[in-house]
Amino acid sequence: MRKKIVAGNWKMNTLPTEGVELAKGVAAGRAEVCDCVNIIVCPPFTHLQSVIETLKGANVAVGAQDCATESKGAYTGEVSAQMIAALGCEYVILGHSERRQYYGETSETLNKKMERAFENNLKPIYCVGENLEEREAGRHFEVVKAQIEEVVFNLTAEQFAQLVIAYEPVWAIGTGKTATAEQAEEIHAYIREVLRSKFGAAADECSILYGGSCKPSNAGEIFSKENVDGGLIGGAALKAEDFLAIGKAF
Ligand code: PGA
Repeated sequence: MRKKIVAGNWKMNTLPTEGVELAKGVAAGRAEVCDCVNIIVCPPFTHLQSVIETLKGANVAVGAQDCATESKGAYTGEVSAQMIAALGCEYVILGHSERRQYYGETSETLNKKMERAFENNLKPIYCVGENLEEREAGRHFEVVKAQIEEVVFNLTAEQFAQLVIAYEPVWAIGTGKTATAEQAEEIHAYIREVLRSKFGAAADECSILYGGSCKPSNAGEIFSKENVDGGLIGGAALKAEDFLAIGKAF
């Protein structure tokens, strides 16, 4: 049975005190969401520690939104996977389209980050997805395939077993425009097929999340699809009530 996951990507939102309040709200309502759904929140680096403390015993896991390519040393401004893991983070988002688009992350960068994450027992949530131009040109399958082949195919079977994938069409992120449940299922099934070509039956154990303007009103339909195992939630994760409602949407 694949893990059901609802992960909140807070991005560069919330001040430390606001983040703690949001985490308290998530903790307070966690019991309303089935235990069978793994709930994860990914706050900014500055409040990982306080959010982790707030969520102790609340059955909510915490992830970082990124990690450095290098292990340690003279890399001003960077935050290492080891630092994140030492705080008690379980997950790390890697390859989010905003990092690819605004900070020039490539498969080469992401291969290094993946390695650092696994060295520190962090479970990566690896993001893939096409932009609008690629979708309109009918290139979404090949774009997503390349993003997987160039990075995920370098993992060992043991590492792959820890990986979560998030399919996030760039044209749906923060735009209010969601992929239809059919569009999501079509590409999720394709991603699983690509994974199966390399990892065999283990592909059936990999959780593939949908992301992009997912909200309480559309989550139920999207999550009802066979190959959609949950969501990576941006905007709607900033309100505990909405975030938890998405968790209840399965
Ligand atoms: P959104 O963001 O839910 O605000 O569209 C999703 C994401 O980028 O992870």
